[in-house]
Amino acid sequence: MIINLFDLEKKFPKNLTKDIEGYYSSGARDEITLKRNRDVFNNWEILPKFLRDVSKIDTTISILDEKIESPILLAPVAMQQMAHKDGEIATAKAAKKFNTIMTHSTIANYGIDQVGPLHDKLFFQLYFSKDREFTKQMLLNCKKNSYKAIVFTVDAPRLGTREADERNSFKMPKELKLGNFLGTKFENFEKIETYEGSSMAAHSDHLFDPSLTFDAIGWIKEISELPVLVKGILRPDDAQKAISYGADGIIISNHGGRQLDTAVPTLKQIEPIRNQVGKDATLIVDGGIRRGTDILKCIALGADAVQVGRPLLWGLNHDGQKGVELVLDLLNKELIETMILTGCKNIGEISRDLVLFNE
Ligand SMILES: Cc1cc2nc3c(=O)[nH]c(=O)nc-3n(C[C@H](O)[C@H](O)[C@H](O)COP(=O)(O)O)c2cc1C
Repeated sequence: MIINLFDLEKKFPKNLTKDIEGYYSSGARDEITLKRNRDVFNNWEILPKFLRDVSKIDTTISILDEKIESPILLAPVAMQQMAHKDGEIATAKAAKKFNTIMTHSTIANYGIDQVGPLHDKLFFQLYFSKDREFTKQMLLNCKKNSYKAIVFTVDAPRLGTREADERNSFKMPKELKLGNFLGTKFENFEKIETYEGSSMAAHSDHLFDPSLTFDAIGWIKEISELPVLVKGILRPDDAQKAISYGADGIIISNHGGRQLDTAVPTLKQIEPIRNQVGKDATLIVDGGIRRGTDILKCIALGADAVQVGRPLLWGLNHDGQKGVELVLDLLNKELIETMILTGCKNIGEISRDLVLFNE
């Protein structure tokens, strides 16, 4: 019986090799951040309010003017076809059915031209490449395909080492393609055979540009003519700087504990970052969100919305599009229950005084 996201996690993986499972599930090095992302939710307790007419609950919100069903978004997750043959196509259809935003990864199996037409609430996650012309063409293609924003991932000047991938010599299966790289020099991910460990790490060394600075934000905006959310920020000063360079919002993230191990868990940074950037900047958070109560805590501390990464893979692997829909439904039902039990009729009523820090 599947009644929560952990039930889906227990069923994961279905028909996946050890190296694919390792790629999807692991974190960087000792996986301290991966674990802490979840543990910190237990440091916060909820102070519920009662007698507030919670007979009708409205979970809708707007993110960058897109009205969506609930503050639960689908985070960018690379190579989804390894989890299910329909990959990003299934995820985009699930996002459309539920009416939420999916962020489509640069390192997707299905590319912008294939996923773009499926949903009108897509963001595109950008790994800014060393090859500016390639980056430019991807951004122009996003604009052409009516993507609504660019999510600029900044926490990966190089790939963090996931030791499972090194040990397993992780490689994407040869029969899969990377849709956004077809016909470019980045196409041949699976053919990097000379490297001993993770071929993902080798490919990223080839692709990622470690020389980037905050100026890149303005360049992305100028080329794409789309709003930009900067993903991977963990410090209030970096958040402020990103906004001052033109970012429309911040995604507080440590990449699900996959980049710098022992980096701070994301929940801890929501309030300081919100206080720094003010009320107008869009603030989304990810990392370890698995329960409706987690979402309430994030919003009470200042986030506008949350997003999930691994749970979408568990759903996708379990049952394709339907599995991703199940993830969104389960989480939203828990959010509604939490709102009823805390006296919140709508997302705007989730206030700071609902949560209390407990050391
Ligand atoms: C298998 C996997 C692949 C990911 N690929 C990307 C990616 O291509 N781009 C990106 O910005 N973040 C990527 N992320 C990070 C997610 O967007 C998100 O920050 C993280 O998964 C949130 O944590 P959670 O998995 O605990 O929900 C990936 C995460 C996982 C687990």
